[in-house]
Amino acid sequence: MAKILLVEDLANPRKALTILMKKHGLEADEAENGQAAIELLNKQEYDLIVTDLKMQPIDGMQLLQVARQQPNPPEVIILTAFASIENSVDAMRLGAFDYLSKPFKVDVLLNSIKNALAKKAQNLDLQNTNESFKEIIGNSEGINQVLWMTSQIANTNCTVLITGESGTGKELIARAIHEHSGRRNQPLVTVNCVTLAETLLESELFGHVRGSFTGAVRDRKGLFQEADSGSIFLDEIGDITPQTQKKLLRVLQEGEIRRIGDNQPIRVDVRIIVATNRDLEAEVAKGNFRQDLYYRLNVIPIHLPPLRERQDDIPLLAHHFIKKYAQEIGKEPPSLTPEALECLVAYPWPGNIRELENIIERALALSNKKILDPDDLMFRIRKIGESRSQPDGSTLAEMEKSVILKTLQSCAGNHKLAAENLGISMTTLWRKLKTYDHVPSE
Ligand SMILES: Nc1ncnc2c1ncn2[C@@H]1O[C@H](COP(=O)(O)OP(=O)(O)OP(=O)(O)O)[C@@H](O)[C@H]1O
Ligand SMILES: [Mg+2]
Repeated sequence: MAKILLVEDLANPRKALTILMKKHGLEADEAENGQAAIELLNKQEYDLIVTDLKMQPIDGMQLLQVARQQPNPPEVIILTAFASIENSVDAMRLGAFDYLSKPFKVDVLLNSIKNALAKKAQNLDLQNTNESFKEIIGNSEGINQVLWMTSQIANTNCTVLITGESGTGKELIARAIHEHSGRRNQPLVTVNCVTLAETLLESELFGHVRGSFTGAVRDRKGLFQEADSGSIFLDEIGDITPQTQKKLLRVLQEGEIRRIGDNQPIRVDVRIIVATNRDLEAEVAKGNFRQDLYYRLNVIPIHLPPLRERQDDIPLLAHHFIKKYAQEIGKEPPSLTPEALECLVAYPWPGNIRELENIIERALALSNKKILDPDDLMFRIRKIGESRSQPDGSTLAEMEKSVILKTLQSCAGNHKLAAENLGISMTTLWRKLKTYDHVPSE
C-alpha cells in the first residue's frame, strides 16, 4: 500500500481530502503544517506528499525542499489557492511532481496522485536498471521495458530471442545480457550466421575432425566449445539452413555438440542468445524455420521497438552521439537548434539508431559550427521537419509551457542546459515537453 502524507493547515479541507482518498482506496497520514510533516518524514518514508502551500511555521515549498533531499524522496504534489507562474516554476525546479491550483477538480487531483505514485514505483525499479545499463541510451517506455526485462533475465541460463529492425540495438542488448550475467568473466562468442556458407557455418559452430571434408586438414574446435561456460550470440538466426537448424536444436535439447565427422558428443555449457530482424513466427508458418527450434529459442523474447516508436529517445541519443563524435575529432560538442532537433524527432529513421549515429557523425565531420541547424543535416532529414507554431495562452499551464519552451530555445535546444537553467531534472523537463506535444510521443 502506498504511503501518502497529507499536509494542510485547515482541519476541514484536510478531513475532506482524507475521506476522498479513502473512498478511492488510498490511505493518508495527516499533518497540520510543514513542521509536523517533517517530523513524520524523519520517522518514516512516504511515497507521496500532497501539501498545501501557505502554512506556518514551515510552508509547502520548504517542505518540498526537505522532502526531495531525502535518500529515497517522495513525490510531492502542491495544492494552492495562490497559483502563480513563479511559484509553479519554483516548485518544479525543486522537484515537485505537480502543482494544482484550488479549487481543483477531484479527478484532476486523483489522476495526479495516481501518476505520481506510478512514477515513484517506476523510479524505484528504473533507478537500478538504468544505472546499470549506462552505455544504453534512452528513457522511453519502449527502451525502459527492454532494459527492465534484460535486468530480470540476464543472470539466468535462459535462451533469449532478440528481435527488432536493423540498427535497433539487438547486439548491444545481447552484450548487455552477457555482461550482467554470472558468465561475464567467461567468453562471449559472437557469430554472424549470414556471412558464412552452410558447411563453413557448421564447422565454425561445432568444429570438425581432420579429413571430414575437403579442406579439413586438421581438427578444429568449434565456437560452441570456445564459448564453453560463457555465452554464444548467434546473430541473424533466421538465416540458417534446415541442416544447421537441426544441429542447433540438438544443442538446445541435449546440451551437447558433435563435431563434423565425429560421432562422439561433447558436452558444452553455453548460454545461447540469438537475434534476428526477421519475423521468425512468419518464417515458421512458411516452413522456412523449424517450429520446435523456434519454441526452444523463444524462451525469453525481447523485442526492440524501432526508433520511430520511441521518439523520446531521439534527443538523448543525438546528444550522446554528438558528444561521442565531437570527442573523437577533438572539438567542443555543438548544440542543436530546436528546428534541427524537431527534424531529427520527426524523421522516421528506417535505419534506426545506426542511421542516427551516422547522420550525427557526418554532420560533425562536415560542419564546424557551434550550433547545428537543419542545414547541417542531410536533405532527407531536413525536409521532414516543419516548425510547429506554439500558441501563447494565459492559463498557468500555458505560461509554464511558454517559459520552458523559451528557455529551451535560448539554450539552442540543448535539453541538458535548459534543464540546468530551469533548475529541473531532465526527466521533469521531458515529462513536461511530452505533455506539450513538443516532442511527439507516439
Ligand atoms: N540505446 C542505444 N544507446 C546507444 N547506442 C545504441 C543504442 N542502440 C543502438 N546503439 C548503437 O547503434 C548501432 C547499432 O546497434 P546494433 O548493432 O546493436 O543494432 P542491431 O539491432 O544489431 O542491428 P542489425 O540488425 O543491423 O545487426 C551500434 O553502434 C550501437 O552501439
Ligand atoms: Mg546486429
